[in-house]
Amino acid sequence: MSAELYNLTLTTNFCTGMNFLQWYGPQRQLIITEPGLIKEILSNKDRAYPKAKAPNYVKQLLGDGLVTSEGEQWLKMRILANHAFHGGSLKNMIPAMIASSEIMLERWRHYESKEMDVFREFKVLTSEIISRTAFGSSYLEGQHIFDMLTRMAHIISGNNYRIRIPGIGNFFKTSDDIESENLEATIRSSFMNMMKKREQEAMLGNIDGYGHDFFGLLLEAYHDSDKTKKISVDDLIDECKTFYVGGQETTSSSLTWSVLLLAIHTD
Ligand code: HEM
Repeated sequence: MSAELYNLTLTTNFCTGMNFLQWYGPQRQLIITEPGLIKEILSNKDRAYPKAKAPNYVKQLLGDGLVTSEGEQWLKMRILANHAFHGGSLKNMIPAMIASSEIMLERWRHYESKEMDVFREFKVLTSEIISRTAFGSSYLEGQHIFDMLTRMAHIISGNNYRIRIPGIGNFFKTSDDIESENLEATIRSSFMNMMKKREQEAMLGNIDGYGHDFFGLLLEAYHDSDKTKKISVDDLIDECKTFYVGGQETTSSSLTWSVLLLAIHTD
């Protein structure tokens, strides 16, 4: 089935609110769109619904961040993430969200009565908002890291379904493998630089603690003297990557979908 037809089938089924079975290659998937069932599965009170094992390419991209982890690792990171999603923290993010939306709307004025690609627009918007809210003053460095991450996601997902002879990757690397390895190394060193800069600012007393954005929160946990709360550099990097990848595609798709529905149903 072509990608377009596949998406159309999915979209049609989602529109009609059906639960249905589909095949993802050799794997069966039960797609649930009934709100009551979705709530039951996501609240998962009896732990009856374990997380699906993340495919290799997701692990390669997100490491052990919240989306892929379970058990104690998940709990430690989840407690930290809860702070970021607390009402008070979200309230502090509102000015950054408004500023980015206003810049986008200003750009849209040039498109009056012309066709435009809203999906591309919302991708830029959501990426900017996550960078501003997660990295605060380090926003530009964060944005640069995310550009590299987007490129890496593109390479990794594109290679996911390619058939490779097992073991050959140890001897022979494709240009994609090399680019993706280089990106991973650059992303890591960019995070380390960003950490160093923040630590210096904190030492000089220019900021309160390590800062109140998500990055500051993670950095504080990295320096925690309590071993049960302390996180590693890898945890910190994986969590930043998770927030970006988990937060961007989801929100830009749902915004685009909402705008499409509004455009169809102008009443
Ligand atoms: C319309 C927007 C969104 C949708 C539809 C969505 C959907 C989901 C779903 C279904 C899960 C559960 C996955 C599972 O347990 O297997 C999830 C988890 C998660 N999402 Fe989102 N999400 C959205 C926005 C965001 C945003 C904006 C962020 C962060 C900036 C985010 C970060 C996460 C994280 C960190 C998890 C893992 C939570 C955990 O396991 O404790 N998501 N999301």
